[in-house]
Amino acid sequence: MKRLGRAVRGFLGMLAGFSSLIISWTASYFILRVLFQRFGAPSSVYVSQLLGMLLGFLILFCIGGLISLITYGKQNKFYSPILNAVRRISKGDFTAKVEDVERYGRMGELVEGINEMASELSRMETMRQDFISNVSHEIQSPLTSIRGFARALRREDLSRETREHYLDIIEAESARLSGLSDSLLKLSVLESGSFPLEAKPYRLDKQLRNILLACEPQWMGKGIEVEAELAEVTVTGAEDLLSQVWNNLLHNSIKFTPPGGKVMITARLIGTEAEVVVSDTGAGISKEDLPRIFERFYKADKARSAGAGGSGLGLSLVKKIVDLHLGEVRAESRLGEGTEIIVTLPLSVKEERERE
Ligand SMILES: Nc1ncnc2c1ncn2[C@@H]1O[C@H](COP(=O)(O)OP(=O)(O)O)[C@@H](O)[C@H]1O
Ligand SMILES: [Mg+2]
Repeated sequence: MKRLGRAVRGFLGMLAGFSSLIISWTASYFILRVLFQRFGAPSSVYVSQLLGMLLGFLILFCIGGLISLITYGKQNKFYSPILNAVRRISKGDFTAKVEDVERYGRMGELVEGINEMASELSRMETMRQDFISNVSHEIQSPLTSIRGFARALRREDLSRETREHYLDIIEAESARLSGLSDSLLKLSVLESGSFPLEAKPYRLDKQLRNILLACEPQWMGKGIEVEAELAEVTVTGAEDLLSQVWNNLLHNSIKFTPPGGKVMITARLIGTEAEVVVSDTGAGISKEDLPRIFERFYKADKARSAGAGGSGLGLSLVKKIVDLHLGEVRAESRLGEGTEIIVTLPLSVKEERERE
């Protein structure tokens, strides 16, 4: 329908052009005829034809000028909402919107593009503000507790054990702050998009075994049983980044599983993909929270997570890193029963990239 309208309009435009041409030439012909009758025609046919042509063009220009003069106001009215919106957007007002998109006909797509840009910018601005408020909040809570315990340490009647306990808390909270800044930095580097993925082939099962060993004090200390079923798998990826993925998943499982619970980690090969599953018999995640746990700063159970000392960035980093490897990560969970995080990675990122 739109295309037909456009064709009709184009045809009418051409018709108008032709008619103006014919009108100009006819007018020029008659004017010259009158003039020649009154003042005598030039002796040379060439000169009379030249005069006819010049006059024809003059009249054509006059008609064109007249038309653009008439439509100028209309054009102004046509473009000014677009210009206004663009100006407002450039000044940071992302609520700007061009109304009545249908009015713009052929330019409708451009106008729609401007509206889309404004709403996308506005969404990003909201995200930025949320981000800042989340970061300040995450910085504030450990700082408050550091300040409080540092002040408490000034008291002289404290026993040695209490003093040690306060110092432990201060140390843990400082570590949390430094972990937060570390995660933020990593996320921002990974999200800048210019991150070169240094993928090399390595043994995934060995990496997982090493990480399990490194975490041993934590799960042993909490009285959690850990089971591993690691098939021999070689993947091509950024080893240190993927190590962060497994670490984050394992720490979550240990963190959210009560003493006496069980954490299980399996790695296997499925076709051209490696699958790693980290599951636990811990607190689980509710159906409402499940789709959101990969968002930045999202903590399903605020009270519990705050006590556990997380920032809610762990899983968003996991997702980012897995995405960079063109893999997939998903979570399955039942509240009170346990959680299962499944990561699949293409065996070779390079081949996968080439195929895309
Ligand atoms: N294994 C798990 N068991 C129960 N809940 C989990 C588990 N893993 C993640 N979650 C939920 O997802 C949220 C986001 O996880 P994450 O991004 O690692 O943040 P953090 O560990 O810093 O709280 C956690 O706060 C928690 O509520
Ligand atoms: Mg975590």
